Amino acid sequence: MKAAPRKHSAGALVRLVGLGKAFDGEVILRDVSLTVEPGELVGVIGPSGCGKTTLLKLVAGLAAPTEGKVEFGGGPTRRESLSFVFQDATLLPWLTVLDNVALPLKIAGAPRREREAKALAHIERVGLADATRLYPRQLSGGMKMRVSVARSMTVDPTLLLLDEPFGALDEMTRDTLNEELLRLRQAARWTAMFVTHSVAEAVFLASKVIVLGARPSHIAHAIDVPLGYPRSAATRERSEYVERVVTVTRALHSVQA
Ligand SMILES: Nc1ncnc2c1ncn2[C@@H]1O[C@H](COP(=O)(O)OP(=O)(O)O)[C@@H](O)[C@H]1O
Ligand SMILES: [Mg+2]
Repeated sequence: MKAAPRKHSAGALVRLVGLGKAFDGEVILRDVSLTVEPGELVGVIGPSGCGKTTLLKLVAGLAAPTEGKVEFGGGPTRRESLSFVFQDATLLPWLTVLDNVALPLKIAGAPRREREAKALAHIERVGLADATRLYPRQLSGGMKMRVSVARSMTVDPTLLLLDEPFGALDEMTRDTLNEELLRLRQAARWTAMFVTHSVAEAVFLASKVIVLGARPSHIAHAIDVPLGYPRSAATRERSEYVERVVTVTRALHSVQA
């Protein structure tokens, strides 16, 4: 006898089940169902205002769904092991790079020595070892985002949620940060959902890209990216990469038409 097909695999890290969200009676998201497996990097792309940030907030528990639910399972994932990276670096201007990165550990009550040692290690990993004593106003946009990423890593996230993290940066800097982000992932193996408005960035980072349609939004397309990890700058020259950029671009145009 054939086993009944399973809607979700048992090892899922996060499941969105028939998720819907309305604000003041206006439905923004409807019936969003998605399974995120451990190690996946899911790119979320869609027209402006379609509900991408709202979707991440629902996953993070920063907003409550009006329909459906978000389930965490298949491992030790709890909401505490989740990090959220916002589009602007959201650094505290009166704290140094070191203290900004160490802040989540301070809030968690870690002793000074421990949090500084850990923060320093993460700062080194994003290439800012020489900037630990600088203040945010002394940093470029790319450096600020590196600090923000380093800070998100201090809690050893199982799930990383990134909302257009590099959207304000020039393309060269963004490409470099994308490569760095994947290098960090090789070491730490978190799972991620990230929002972007760049098709190139979505395909470069993601194992799967979901395209949200116009409101009320649902998943109009889910496109697998058959490129393994690690990836490097050379990945952008591979035919599979270029083909998926074309596919996602078309999908995006189809929902915006
Ligand atoms: N807290 C809120 N209260 C009311 N409306 C909201 C709230 N948050 C988002 N919205 C509305 O939901 C829609 C989707 O917003 P958002 O998720 O930020 O879109 P995106 O990130 O795709 O640009 C927008 O029309 C926005 O005005
Ligand atoms: Mg947004």
